Amino acid sequence: MYVLGIETSCDETACAIVESVGQEVKILSQQISSQIDLHKAYGGVIPELASREHLKNLPVILDSVLKTAQLKLEQIDGIGVTSGPGLKGSLLMGINFARGLSLAKNIPLIGINHIEGHILAPMLEHPDLDFPFIALIVSGGHTEIHLAKGLGDYQLIARTIDDAAGEAFDKSAHLLGFEYPGGPKLAQVADSVNSTNFKLPKVMRESPDFSFSGLKTAIALLIQKQKTELGDPKIFGSLCYAIQEAIVEALLYKLDKALKFTNVNKVVVSGGVSANKYLRKKIAEIKNVQCYFPQMQHCMDNAAMIALVAAKRFAHNKKLSDDLKVRARWPVETLNSNFTL
Ligand code: KG4
Ligand code: ZN
Repeated sequence: MYVLGIETSCDETACAIVESVGQEVKILSQQISSQIDLHKAYGGVIPELASREHLKNLPVILDSVLKTAQLKLEQIDGIGVTSGPGLKGSLLMGINFARGLSLAKNIPLIGINHIEGHILAPMLEHPDLDFPFIALIVSGGHTEIHLAKGLGDYQLIARTIDDAAGEAFDKSAHLLGFEYPGGPKLAQVADSVNSTNFKLPKVMRESPDFSFSGLKTAIALLIQKQKTELGDPKIFGSLCYAIQEAIVEALLYKLDKALKFTNVNKVVVSGGVSANKYLRKKIAEIKNVQCYFPQMQHCMDNAAMIALVAAKRFAHNKKLSDDLKVRARWPVETLNSNFTL
């Protein structure tokens, strides 16, 4: 079965085609067009600009993935499109484009939850990964931990009540003068030094959820205090190291609690921040736990993960009711109650 995945939930326009045979899902082609250069000047994503770009990019990217896979649209057996959570206008572009394709060629179309895409993304490279497992989803818009019990069956363990981990990276990076999105650049500097003279507070120990606002304030105060010294590469590197360590430590603390609480020994880490090398290293060091990370290109928003979830849903004949609605908010743990057989 050939499945086309379409992803436009934020500022990446992406299409991918996968072939599913039984449990196995093989990527035939994939393409992502990032809008980072467009939004950079504004220091963040401008929703109206993002929607317009999606509209422009979608036909070109679809054409390209069909060519690479050596397929015609008529040969596609099913389409999965991200229908939430995300920016309303961006989601609408993807959904309407997918609706058009589905109607024109009579191809079954289903809406996919973006977070479920991130949770299952490591299955693209690790088809042996089976349920149950703990999933830590860390990106620019999301920070959450779930117990993944089965396809569409996720139990929320912790979620951020304010900023996401990626935002904490990006906002700190902005204060240090890095261009948006500064997270990976800050991480690169942090990785080039291996210690710090600065101490940031350990936050949100008592609360069951994530919260990065306190840490963000502490980071801002620390940077302000060192303002005149930022030109010194040693101090600058040491600051980056302290920031990365504090954010990663906050993630690890809750992840460790979740593993103990559920007694599960498998963990998936996915979403843009899962590309962070220090985070990967620290998670790989957790004893008696098997870790699964997506390949770097599947950490960030991509359509292969959406096609993967769609392929699995088609294979199990598990359809969500009302799944093509644009949903700016769509908690992944509510999916189970939306299933129809
Ligand atoms: O999943 P993603 O592409 O988009 C969202 O859904 O948000 O994640 C992008 C986020 C950005 O905040 C970016 O700074 C962060 O992931 N990121 C990193 C790294 N690579 C990407 N943060 C820290 N270290 C990295 N290596
Ligand atoms: Zn994402």
